[in-house]
Parts: sequence; structure tokens; C-alpha cells
Amino acid sequence: MNEKKQQLMHDFAQFARIVSAEGIVLLKNENNMLPIKSGEEVAVFGRCQIDYYRSGTGSGGSVNVPYRVNALEGLRKNETIAINEELASIYETFVQENPFDNGGGGWAAEPWFQKEMPITDDVIQIAKKTSVKAMVIIGRTAGEEQDNKDTQGGYRLNYTEIQMLEMVTASFEKVAVVLNVANIIDMSWLDALTHKEHILSVLYSWQGGMEGGNGLADVLSGEVTPSGKLTDTIAYNIEDYPSHTNFEGELENFYQEDIYLGYRYFETFAKSVVRYPFGFGLSYTEFSLHSITGRTEGQGKETTFIVDVTVQNCGANYSGKEIVQIYYEAPQGELGKPLRQLGGFAKTGLLAPGQTQQLSISIPIARMASYDDGGYTGNKSCYVLEAGDYRLFAGNSVRSLENVVINTKPTYTLDSLIVVEKLSVVMCPTKEFKRIKPGHMNEDGEFDITYESVPVHSHTEQADLMRERMARHMPLACEITGDQNIKLIDVKNKKYTLEAFIAQLSQEDLEVIVRGEGMSSPKVTSGTASAFGGLSESLLRFGIPVACAADGPSGIRMDSGETATQLPIGTLLASTWNTQLIEEVYVLEGQELLLNEIDTLLGPGMNIHRHPLNGRNFEYFSEDPFLTGCMAKAVTLGLKKGGSTGTIKHFVANDQEHNRRVVDSIMSERALREIHLKGFEIVVKEGSASSLMTAYNPINGIFAASNYDLNTTVLRGEWGYTGVVMTDWWATMNDPVYGGAASLKDTSSMVRSQNDVFMVVNNFGAEANGLDDNLTESLSTGVLTIGELQRCAMNICKFILDAPAMERPIKTSEVNFFAAVQQALPEVITYPVGIDFTASTNVDKTLWIEVDSEGYYNLLLTMKNDQWDSAQASFNILLNDKFVANIQLNGTMGRWVKQKNICVHLETGFYKMDIVITKAGIDIGTLKFIK
Ligand code: BGC
Repeated sequence: MNEKKQQLMHDFAQFARIVSAEGIVLLKNENNMLPIKSGEEVAVFGRCQIDYYRSGTGSGGSVNVPYRVNALEGLRKNETIAINEELASIYETFVQENPFDNGGGGWAAEPWFQKEMPITDDVIQIAKKTSVKAMVIIGRTAGEEQDNKDTQGGYRLNYTEIQMLEMVTASFEKVAVVLNVANIIDMSWLDALTHKEHILSVLYSWQGGMEGGNGLADVLSGEVTPSGKLTDTIAYNIEDYPSHTNFEGELENFYQEDIYLGYRYFETFAKSVVRYPFGFGLSYTEFSLHSITGRTEGQGKETTFIVDVTVQNCGANYSGKEIVQIYYEAPQGELGKPLRQLGGFAKTGLLAPGQTQQLSISIPIARMASYDDGGYTGNKSCYVLEAGDYRLFAGNSVRSLENVVINTKPTYTLDSLIVVEKLSVVMCPTKEFKRIKPGHMNEDGEFDITYESVPVHSHTEQADLMRERMARHMPLACEITGDQNIKLIDVKNKKYTLEAFIAQLSQEDLEVIVRGEGMSSPKVTSGTASAFGGLSESLLRFGIPVACAADGPSGIRMDSGETATQLPIGTLLASTWNTQLIEEVYVLEGQELLLNEIDTLLGPGMNIHRHPLNGRNFEYFSEDPFLTGCMAKAVTLGLKKGGSTGTIKHFVANDQEHNRRVVDSIMSERALREIHLKGFEIVVKEGSASSLMTAYNPINGIFAASNYDLNTTVLRGEWGYTGVVMTDWWATMNDPVYGGAASLKDTSSMVRSQNDVFMVVNNFGAEANGLDDNLTESLSTGVLTIGELQRCAMNICKFILDAPAMERPIKTSEVNFFAAVQQALPEVITYPVGIDFTASTNVDKTLWIEVDSEGYYNLLLTMKNDQWDSAQASFNILLNDKFVANIQLNGTMGRWVKQKNICVHLETGFYKMDIVITKAGIDIGTLKFIK
């Protein structure tokens, strides 16, 4: 590793530690249980002190880290905290004898909890000998392809964990529980334990990345005062969440909760079922908010509210930070509104005891507008501010608020309705269903739930609308000119227009450019997710470089084994509520991407936490779209400043992992716009996003990857997006007008919708049309026009023009030389270079091959992966200890597929060939080098 990279990774890790501490949320802290005082010895229970989860699994977590700090190490390194070493060594022995179960190492194979050590009386006696305080660490992972389950070991604690808590609380009167989890979990044990009163502290430490153990120790020791706040509501029961009845539908998932998701639901209809409210989190010190005043600037729809708040640290012992949250209440009007919606927030700097800081938070009134999807106000398809009283509230959680006086009045009144934005109907559901709406208001201020029918289109209406809309916006084709010797750099230097450049590309060039290759393409940084752009000699000749995309939200994933810095999970990042900090840390991420020659990180993930069991919530930020948008914006702005970019994903409504590739997210246009699209809208309009990944699922019948309204009408038309759009890996498409069955080969529909790149065909498959897609046929039958294809090519090139790839020298078929040795080891069998080797790659393997004549050899493979489509597996090939390629194959469900991979220069002699598993799951039928 060069010095520059080493220095960056060092600085980045220090920053990651700060973030991992700042996102920890303290929910309970009685009798000053925390922080642990100097001289107090703590008995730490739970195997996750050693097997500390640094993130979830799958593409959002597979970062090869240079090192990791678990909780035990973090605590041991901390100078204030003394831990019970005898107990720690019992755990070390247990973990040694019961090693971490990774489920075999395959894709999504890791169990979501690890076998816990049963606690005996002897263990308790040992712990009690010298410790007065106890801490129990409980862990859960999560990941792609499956949701959490409302079972023991899933959302709930299992028997051994409960027993551990029972035993510890029976013997210690001062117990802290640390939740090292990917997502919120059931907390009913807080009411059920026999000695529940002995649990004095509870904190969600989430999963803090590779520096997570240090971050946790910083908070437990009081070096850092906790300042994280919940980005989700924790309800008493899982059934209390309004999406619960529809979550995990097999083929259809009805969004009946509509816009009443998370606290928007609980504050309006069901306050009493909330255990910990949205925005809640304690500190070691106390804050008071005073001199809260509101005023307005501007007129009509340009009005902005400005709320000034003075925050004081009124504690005596600890410095700390506070988050001021501003919620609004819009009049119920015709549309119905949640009683509270987050309108703005700000975090103080570190305030010493007694210190104050004034915060000023601006909220444009337009942010408070609601979308009228049914013409209820007489303004169909408009964002409107209904007439009536608007209220603002300031506080430090959705439950701890005070009314803000605006221009000396308790409310701000609109005498008549204001249309903020006139749009058009998009992605309208064609299935009839009912959504919830506030009915009668009760004495306690809560509303009864009523139901109303969601506005729908008939299939014919919808198809007519789409046909007409697509025809109206059909791009004109640029006449194909052939090679005019215009290179992409000439467009960058403004010598030629992008249109003139694209006009040179042949139909074949255009087909190739909309196919990405991967995973682990040898054309880009090893072990990354995709190569796209200049994937043929012809495209390279036009000066289009190969761009590289790599997972994922919490750090760079390189399956080759190359290391990178791992940040905490998305939920922890958002729990900081500190957009400045997140932007700063992602500047370093951007620099790390640049050093690794990666043009875009496949993150941030920004789907809404619709239900606590969603398997990928950990990659995402919150149940609130505004907070989600602000966090994603901080990430994309940071990455840009660092020199690379982020890919916002998964656009849109990929809200469950079960059947994620097929389940239809069926929702009203209002819910779509106000909740699920809102975060994306913020980051596109304000976060200069230039790369976006569509979701696997259909929305109201049309797959995201071929959804014209999603990718064209809304994204580019309404929001003005000019970047690239890519599919999720091996996504399926259907007809953008008529819907219908899903197909992996319908790249034509993808292009028509203006989703620009299909991710991914096999390596070297872009030119060979590796997936046998329908582009050529659709062009010849007139289903697709050259103009539509050129439009995607332009979007791709626009992205590349600003990407780091433009600065890298264009590599045309670079062939690496591998030196032979003159003798193989005496005891091994040596195979001729061209012979087939068959191997299961669940175990590493070493073979010797003999090359009898020097020359260029291509690696040819026949492989299968018994898992399902999006399961990913990979291995590395080395020749005489030198890295050749990272080979990747997604699930083929047992089907054998051929892959032509890298070309190498071999000399006469012997080579030791190592096959090193990086993610188990591939069977090799043939592996040979041919001339
Ligand atoms: C995930 C994406 C990820 C891609 C590439 C897919 O399974 O849904 O989020 O970026 O794989 O690894």
C-alpha cells in the first residue's frame, strides 16, 4: 500500500471512530449508571463483546478491513474503564471453542445471531467477586435477500439471551444493556425481566464499522457524551407498526398506511403504543431550549419560517451536543395530514456546562405542502398548502415539543389554498385498495382511523397515458455519422457537442454502452461490482474510458481481498443527525474511492424504514423522508468533494427483502411522492447526485428498471436530473406501457424508460451480448429507436465526463505477464495448461500447470452457482503467488455458464495456480487457459 493511501486510511479510521460514537443512542440512564467512572470495574457479558458486529451482511457490509476493533478491545484500550478480566477470559475461551458461525461463507448464509454462552452461577460468582456494575452486549446482524423474523433470535431475544439478562440482573443492581444491532429490536424484556429495575442503562450502539469498539468505549467511558437520537419509532409491539399487516406480501405489498408511516402514524393515531419516540435520545448532561421564536420571510409559496432557539447545557459535569428538531402541523383540510412532520433540525457544537448556542433553522413553507392525488381540493396532481392554521413545534424528540410563536402569534394562518407545484399524474396504481386517513378527532387529541379508496387508473387509462406521454417526449435521433475523429475529451474541452460525439457511434457501439460488465471485471479495480462505459475496442477508440462502480454504503467492497475503511451502518450515521459530520467523513470516503480508481460508490442506500423487519434497514437511514434526504445529501456532497461520486439507491420502494425481485409495491401517488420519493428528490435537487440505481421491484405493476414515469417523467423531467441511471444487479424489466411479465433480457424496455445501464452482463459479455438481450431485435422491429438508445449513451457519457475515469489513462487490452518457474514441486501432479480442472470452490485449492509454449492465454471457465439469481460468490486465481483475477458468479440455480475472462501472457515453464475462495458458492466445471 502506498504511503498516501496508508495516511488516508489512518485519518479516515480516526474519523470513523468519531462518527461511530456520535451515532450511539442512549435510551435509558438512571442513577448515573453511565458513564463508567474511573476505578469502577465492569463485568461484561455476551459473546458479541468479541464477535462485535461491525455491519450487516451482503453488499452493504462486505468490506475487507485492515483491522477491526471489537467492544472488548475498545474497552481494554480505554484508560478509564476497568473490565473484569477473569470474565473476559471465560468469554475468550468460549468464543475460541464456539467460533463465529458464518453459515459456510456463502451469500446471505450467515445466521442473524450467534450462539450465546449460557451463564452459570459460577460465572456470576466470578463476575461479582470484583465488579459492581455489569454490562450485557447483545448482537444481531441483518442483510440482503431476507427479512428479519418476529422470532427468538430474530427480532426477539432468544432463550439464552433472556436467561443471561435474568441471571445478570438477579445478581447485579447496576446493569447496562448495549444493543449491537443492525436495526431496532423488540424490547419487551424491559418489562418482563424479574429484576427489570436493575437495568439502569440501555443504549443502541448499532454497528459501528471497523472502529465500532473504540467508539463504544468512548461513550461508555464518558470521553464522548452520547448525542445520537432515534431515527425510527420504537413501538411496544411489532403489530403496532401500520405497515405490519401488508409487510412481506408474496407478490404484492399494499402500502395502506399511505403517508402515515412511523411517527406520522403514531403521533396521529396511536401515541400510547410508543415505547421510545422518534427523535429521542439521552445525554450525560441536560439541555434546555429557550428564547424560541419564529418569524417568516417572503410571501405566499415563497414564505420561509425561521425558528431561532437558544440551547443551553444546563448540566454541571459533561460537555455535550443537542439536536433541536422542528416539527410542523398542517391543517387537516380535505386531504388529511399527520399531526407532526419533521420540518427541520440542527445540532449544536460541543457545549461545555453552562454554555449556550443559538441555532437558526429555516423551513420553507413549500416543504409543508401535501400532494393532492385525487383532486380532493380541486387541484389534482398538485402540491398544495391548504387554507388554515399551520403550527410549528420545537424540541428534542417528537414527544418533547413546545409550540413556536410565529410573528407573535401561536399559529400561521393561510386564508386560502396555495398551489405550490403543478405536476402530472405518475405511476398511478391500477389495483383498487383502501388507505388510512384521519377521521374524527378524539378528546385526547388523537384521530380515529378511517379508510378511503386510493385514486386509481384502469389498465387502459394508464396504458393510454403512458403511450401518449412517451410519444410526446420521444427523443429525435442524431443521424449516425460514423467516426469523425471526435474523442470524448473533445467534448470535455468544449470543442464538440456531446450530440456530435454520440452521433459517431454505430448501433453496435450504442448497444454495448448500455451494458455493464461484472462483477469483478478485470477491466477495473479488482473485485468491484461493475465496469461500464468503454467496454469494447471501438468505444475505447472514441476515448470513452471504462468507469468503475463498487459497493457499498458503509465502505468500499473489493472481493479481491483488498482492504478499505469501513464506516458505521446507515442507521448509525443518521442517528448522529449531524449532516456536517457525515459530509466531512464522506469526503475521506471520496478520496479513498479516488485512490482505488472507483468512479462511484453504490450507496447511499436511502429506502424508507417502512417496517422494522426489513432486512436492509441497516443500510438505510430512517422512517422519515426529510431526514433520509438530508443524510443522503450529506453523503453525496461529501463524496463529490472527495473526488468521486455516490450512487443513490434503490429507486424506489425496495422495502422488503423477501421476494425483493418480484414483489409489487402498490401505493398511492401521494404516498409515493410525499414519503418514498421525497428523500431522492432532496438529494437530486440539492445533493448534486449524478448516479442512481433503480430497485428490483415493480411499483404499481411496472418494474423500476423499466419505469418511464420513475426514470424520465419524475427524475429527469420534474427534478432536472442529468446523471446516469443503472439497474440493480441482474434486475428484470417489463413493458413500460403495459407492464406484464418480468424479463432479464428486456433491455429495450430499460432503455425506453431511460434507465441507462443494465447491471450486469458477464465479464467480456457487453460486446458478445452475454445475456442475449433484445436490443438488436427491438431496434429492427421499431419497438425501440436509435434516438432512445443515443439518449442513454449521452447520459452515460455525461456521467463519465465528470468522473475520475476521464483522468485515468485509457487502457486498451492491457495483458499482464506472469513469470514461470522452471520446476514444479517434486511431489505434485502437474497438468498441461489447456486441460480442464474441475473443482468445488468451497475450499481453497492449489494445482500446478505446465505451459509448453509462451504466448497470450485467455482464461476460460465453466461454472455454476446453485443459489438464486442475485446471490453473489467469488474466488481469486493466483499464478505463482501473483494475483490474476477475481472471478465472480451470481446464482445460476444450478445452470452451467461459460465465462471468458482475462488474457494473460505466460511463458514456458511451470505455474503454481491457487484458487482462493472469497465468497463460497461456485462450482467450477472447467478452468483452463487457452491460446
Ligand atoms: C444489491 C445492490 C448492490 C448490488 C451489487 C445487489 O444485490 O441490491 O444494492 O449494490 O447487488 O453488489
